[in-house]
Amino acid sequence: MANNISFPCAIMLFFIVFYLINSSNAMPSFNVQRYGARGDGRTDATEPFLTAWSLACESRARAMVYIPRGTYLVRNLVFWGPCKNIITFKIDGTLVAPENYWSIGSSGYWILFAKVNRISVYGGILDARGAGYWSCRKKGGHCPQGARSISFSWCDNVLLSGLTSLNSQNIHVTVHHSSNVRIQNIRIRAPSGSPNTDGIIVQASSGVTISGGVIGTGDDCIALNPGSKNIWIERLNCGPGHGISIGSLGEYANEEGVQNITVTSSIFTKTQNGVRIKSWGRPSNGFVRNVQFRNLVMRNVENPLIIDQNYCPSKKGCPNQSSGVKISGVTYANIKGTSATPVAMKLDCSGSHHCTGITLKNINLKYMRRSSASYCKNAHGRASGVMIPRNCM
Ligand SMILES: *[C@@H]1O[C@H](CO)[C@@H](O)[C@H](O)[C@H]1NC(C)=O
Ligand SMILES: *[C@@H]1O[C@H](CO)[C@@H](O)[C@H](O)[C@H]1NC(C)=O
Repeated sequence: MANNISFPCAIMLFFIVFYLINSSNAMPSFNVQRYGARGDGRTDATEPFLTAWSLACESRARAMVYIPRGTYLVRNLVFWGPCKNIITFKIDGTLVAPENYWSIGSSGYWILFAKVNRISVYGGILDARGAGYWSCRKKGGHCPQGARSISFSWCDNVLLSGLTSLNSQNIHVTVHHSSNVRIQNIRIRAPSGSPNTDGIIVQASSGVTISGGVIGTGDDCIALNPGSKNIWIERLNCGPGHGISIGSLGEYANEEGVQNITVTSSIFTKTQNGVRIKSWGRPSNGFVRNVQFRNLVMRNVENPLIIDQNYCPSKKGCPNQSSGVKISGVTYANIKGTSATPVAMKLDCSGSHHCTGITLKNINLKYMRRSSASYCKNAHGRASGVMIPRNCM
């Protein structure tokens, strides 16, 4: 008798458990095609994308915005938060900007996530088709301000994984006023002559990790602007481009500092700079503190290691070329490879605010198979291990 009851009970229990496991896995998915997007590269899919976003954002359960394979033409997309729950944004397709560069270029942002917490963006190709815009800029014509391709502003807990960004009009990826942002395996490509097509710019943000990636652009691969804090960059391939830059800093008298930055296990190929710290030669209360540049390979880089506190492009507003930005606690360790110019290390610090606490350890940078040269001004610290070029502090 007991067996006759427990057997159907066991079967029922099995189905209940099976149902629970499956229903908890299946998060509601908002496929842009359901709202009219067509992956034909011609039909404007802006509205369907925004509809899918607002439904996902309003969902009480974790939700997914899904973009299937295909090419989607989209204009400016602003994805506003806060959302009710965690969002997964999965892109299997390619997003292209309209042919006419005025369409996205008259706003500063092409795709913008604003005030969104707990979002993961997976995959996808963004092609902003910036060539027309760059040639307008180069001709000095009447051009719009230009759009950044993908941006996160006032966002917390962001994962951007496996994105490809091509030919942005302007900066490819920006992170502003955000925290806990992970960027993994990013691929960014724009021609070496394209103006201001920086790879990734971080500003006023804390806890940003950029790991794995290939960035080739016309400007900085990565730039860390004022207010960048607790930043970790690893396994990056940079080039062509202007390298990884802290700054420009000190453009304004009142400015947030940059601190706790690590750049490690990365390769620079034929870039203008390797790792650079750059500040305007004028008064500022900005600072740079606690920076580690280590385990880096330079391949034919013009300025592998450079601090330049004399930046002043228009030669105006830089009294005595003296930067107020105080640089301290910068370590360069285990850096090897080749310089494309004789001076592989240039530490050109402010006359009014010297660089202090510079540590050099195991540097081996050759120029034309010979020892390279170094230049130091107002730089203080110590060196150990192999030092090619010579320590000039
Ligand atoms: C420095 O930044 C790293 C992340 O790159 C973080 O793990 C660490 O806690 C930070 N250190 C301090 C003292 O804030
Ligand atoms: C520039 O240098 C001159 C002479 O050395 C000095 O009198 C002046 O105060 C300096 N100005 C600034 C803004 O540092």
